[in-house]
Amino acid sequence: MTKYVIQGGRRLHGQVAVSSAKNAAVAILAGTALTEGLCVIDNLPRISDITVQLEILRRLGARIRMLNANAMEIDCSRLRSSKVLDDELARQNRASYYFIGSLLGRYKTSQVCMPGGCNLGVRAIDQHIKGFEALGANISTKNGCVVAEAPAGLRGAHIYLDMPSVGATINIMLAAVRAQGMTYIENPAKEPHVVDLANFLNTCGADVRGAGTDVIKIRGVRTLHGCNYSIIPDQIEAGTYIAAVAACGGEITVNNVIPKHLDCFATKFTEMGVEITDLGDAVFVKRVKSLSRANFKTLPYPGFPTDMQAPAVAVLSIADGTSIINETIFSSRFRYVDELRRMGARIQADGQIAIVEGVSCLTGAKIYACDLRAGAALVIAGLAAFGITEISGIAHIERGYESFVEKLRNLGADIRREEYPDIEDIEGINA
Ligand code: EPU
Repeated sequence: MTKYVIQGGRRLHGQVAVSSAKNAAVAILAGTALTEGLCVIDNLPRISDITVQLEILRRLGARIRMLNANAMEIDCSRLRSSKVLDDELARQNRASYYFIGSLLGRYKTSQVCMPGGCNLGVRAIDQHIKGFEALGANISTKNGCVVAEAPAGLRGAHIYLDMPSVGATINIMLAAVRAQGMTYIENPAKEPHVVDLANFLNTCGADVRGAGTDVIKIRGVRTLHGCNYSIIPDQIEAGTYIAAVAACGGEITVNNVIPKHLDCFATKFTEMGVEITDLGDAVFVKRVKSLSRANFKTLPYPGFPTDMQAPAVAVLSIADGTSIINETIFSSRFRYVDELRRMGARIQADGQIAIVEGVSCLTGAKIYACDLRAGAALVIAGLAAFGITEISGIAHIERGYESFVEKLRNLGADIRREEYPDIEDIEGINA
């Protein structure tokens, strides 16, 4: 078993470079399956969610060549199959389900096993299905896989989403770019990664307009060619380092960011006592006073992102006063609170609401990361706590953060990755 071991209590100083956006990269990799030329995708983060998308492409018959640690040349001109057969593989991340849309868009048929991803409560896909059906596909479930078939081809349609789902917006966009005629996605998600996918598709010859607004308009094209594309920086990774400075104190420069993408949470951290200065493609972050309480509600972009909820709660657990947090996106995204309580946090979570009564300090403990952003929150708590924190379940964290330990160590944090024998591997334990 691998753990992070953290000696808390150090202020953070120095510079950190943010990697590219996981949630853009996973969608764009699925989008390469729509193209019939060479795609060179630059700035891919080295994280396990990306490895899974590349492996799916490889098994579909894509030829993939690594150009450097973060750049891949992907040739999907001769995909062998429109089936993502391996249930085990599809379950390794959430974004495997983007191949339902992209393969359906290209081959008018796809078969993809149900995805995995973080356990955040119910993660329905009814809006994806509604969109595919509106485009003319028949959808069924067979042996745990979604089977999508459109023998007569896909036709553009008006699709109104019941909620601005990131996954449904992306999946429908992937299916619609090669459909016949116009598709309108109303009430779509407006997250930066949705816009980045649209930009990638347009660079490949698609005609997608309005991504980031209330209506996405897609005029179907017959084919898509390859392109060279560089993915946007990860707003949530940037936010994680901002939260770490808020919790630990100190001052850092976060490089490779689009400051506008950080507005949705930066003002909240400012309210807590952190100064964030826009430097163009970087931000300077400094905790300027003792932490203050703050209330927030998670909302679709440009509201406060659900992916920053846990890191922000870790900070508020040591702020002056009581904060009220309302999680409106996922039904069960406070499971990590029990772990923070082991560290001395005073948090009551009931359904979608958490009440965080700030304490003067947290103390190190042995804790478990139950999902990606929960894991980031526990690391932040461990960095700010007195004593030693050991975090297990770090595979969740490494699905989404590239070189997390190295980057934090460069900022002066005392964190290391350690291998421990699993209990059943200890000689004689089962004798
Ligand atoms: N929903 C439905 N029906 C649908 C689709 C969604 O009811 O057909 C509901 C979900 O159950 C959920 C809410 O709508 O309660 C939001 O779901 P959404 O589709 O927006 O989220 P997602 O696509 O499953 C992506 C990110 C998540 C991020 C959310 C919200 C990827 C691969 N995942 O998930 O990222 O939290 O959007 O911004 O892009 C993470 O990076 O840690 C992460 C969990």
